[in-house]
Amino acid sequence: MPSRTSTWPSGWPTFSPSDNEPNDTLQAELKASIIAEYGPEALRTAWIKTCNALKDVTARIAKEGNKSVPIFSYEEVTSNHSEQVINQMKATGCFIIRNVVPSAEASQHFSELQAFIASNRDTITGWPAKSVAIYHLFSTPTQLKIKTTPKHLRLQKLLNSLYTDSSCSLEEQEAKYEPILYPDAVRVRAPGQEFLGLGPHIDSGSLVRWADHSYRQTYAAILSGSPETYDPFDMAHRQYARTDLFPGGAHSSVFRSFQGWTALTKCESGKGGLLLLPDIKTATAYMMLRPFFTAPVKEEEWRDAEKWSIDESGWFPGTYRWDSQLLSRESHPHLCLEDTLVRIPDMEPGDTVWWHADMCHAVETTHTGTIPASVCYIPSSPSTTPNLAYIRQHWKDLVAGIPPDDYKYLDGTGSELVLSKQNERKMKGALSLDLISAEGRRGLGEGV
Ligand SMILES: [Fe+2]
Repeated sequence: MPSRTSTWPSGWPTFSPSDNEPNDTLQAELKASIIAEYGPEALRTAWIKTCNALKDVTARIAKEGNKSVPIFSYEEVTSNHSEQVINQMKATGCFIIRNVVPSAEASQHFSELQAFIASNRDTITGWPAKSVAIYHLFSTPTQLKIKTTPKHLRLQKLLNSLYTDSSCSLEEQEAKYEPILYPDAVRVRAPGQEFLGLGPHIDSGSLVRWADHSYRQTYAAILSGSPETYDPFDMAHRQYARTDLFPGGAHSSVFRSFQGWTALTKCESGKGGLLLLPDIKTATAYMMLRPFFTAPVKEEEWRDAEKWSIDESGWFPGTYRWDSQLLSRESHPHLCLEDTLVRIPDMEPGDTVWWHADMCHAVETTHTGTIPASVCYIPSSPSTTPNLAYIRQHWKDLVAGIPPDDYKYLDGTGSELVLSKQNERKMKGALSLDLISAEGRRGLGEGV
């Protein structure tokens, strides 16, 4: 299976109960309160159902490889989208949509981005600092132009509309589908550049999924013993989740219906690209239930969910509250990550990939190609009340050239964060905001 992660990177972390900080009682107390709220029997029922369902899910992905990631043309999803297409998008929670930006235009954008970075190299920061792959740039001409094109905005709106909101009227729900343009970074990864920083993980917080009431409510069906009724596309509670409850540089404070990127160059399998676990419903249930269970004493019995017992320790596997939710083969064995974390199909300039904000993903550790692999991170985000508040502030920051909220601080030399002094408005070649359409400026936060 060519897309399989056949050689598991040795640098990706593993997690064990010894990671737990014994003097920190917050996690043990939180776990006890959740066990009391939902009851051990409901959790156990959910655990057994989920592990059993995962057998089929993981076997299917292992067999299909990256064919499990559906591919659509832009027209298929925006003009001719059928119930079948929508169902396929929602069933996996990830997909590729090709040719959102014409290939030649995307290549031109990449040339402009390279020129922009070269002209402002002294003032641009990035990560990892020693060998930058992801630049702390949020409003380069390339990014602003691509995400505000009518074609991209139309797609973002459609992706937002895959969600429902039972907490409001249909008219109010419809209004929330208008996209806000969450600022995100750009990646330019040089050939041969090693990158171990993004092993299997899920963004939008970690411990907060259990600790924040609205966030936890999102997963109530799972925790109450009915994971089969869990709807990953219901935003009634999710939209109010305080993903940044615990401070940390990795957390987005905005609800993204889908994370995503638009390719500026060819991004081929094995050449520094993205890996996805193409299942959203069962894998999410497993991630949410895993902290409540301890593996059997006889290690060889790990596959049998019934042999696992309720765990009352403070350990949440791969969960460090300042970081994204991390996963590993050892801590989350039923996900069979070695077989299910697949390299996405090859991408051409202008193609896009999208994945649900609860989806496990990773970035390849090696880049064996001969050209840079470059993408613009452009997610889709609905106009929920908290998202509107974020983007309103974003417009003010954008005009002033100040980095957006979520990116105001950079990693210091130790564990401390330092205030970013980067000002993109003052960079050579910055795009005049007057050149952006009214629709695009609204998405960036003007007048909302
Ligand atoms: Fe991520």
